[in-house]
Amino acid sequence: MGTFDHNSLRNVVKKFLVEQNCLKTYDHCISVGDYAYELGKDYLDEPAKARIAGYLHDISAIYPNNQRIDVAKRMGLELYKEELALPMIIHQKISKAIALNEFKVTDPAILSAIECHTTLKGDYSDLDLVVFIADKIKWDQEGEPPYIVGLMTALENSLEEAAYYYIEYLLNHDIQVIHPWLNEAHVKLKKQLTSV
Ligand SMILES: [Fe+2]
Ligand SMILES: [Fe+2]
Repeated sequence: MGTFDHNSLRNVVKKFLVEQNCLKTYDHCISVGDYAYELGKDYLDEPAKARIAGYLHDISAIYPNNQRIDVAKRMGLELYKEELALPMIIHQKISKAIALNEFKVTDPAILSAIECHTTLKGDYSDLDLVVFIADKIKWDQEGEPPYIVGLMTALENSLEEAAYYYIEYLLNHDIQVIHPWLNEAHVKLKKQLTSV
């Protein structure tokens, strides 16, 4: 990032999303970023990176689901068959591309957290985990998430337990498509958590 402090980033994100009639997404991005920053203080050397990733994570909301395959192809992004089947999931990759190309975010750790915020991935970092979990806690829908009590309890133990709890919840509740990165994260977390 470099040239932006978090307040100016917040303002540019606001302008970008509000111009595209995505005010709700703006509110969600800020609440995820601010929460990720607070959560990150306990786990990260640079929690400010979690805030930047959170502010930008859903910036691709400017493109509706029915445009996401075309947009991704235009951007030269590689897509899995699971992403073609459920284009909603592509938004994490498009957000990363917008963060890089429009917002000039070049830090690979921040870009990674944006890119895997929906599915996580097998070789996740603590920053990836923080942003992933913050997005689930400060979700973009009405009311409390149905998994919130279990997730918060798991989070008292570790980031990995929280991520594992959420993925297990997903797998047990009408998940439409299992993204390969989600599957890899699930396998890795299970191994980590049972080997202690
Ligand atoms: Fe998202
Ligand atoms: Fe989100």
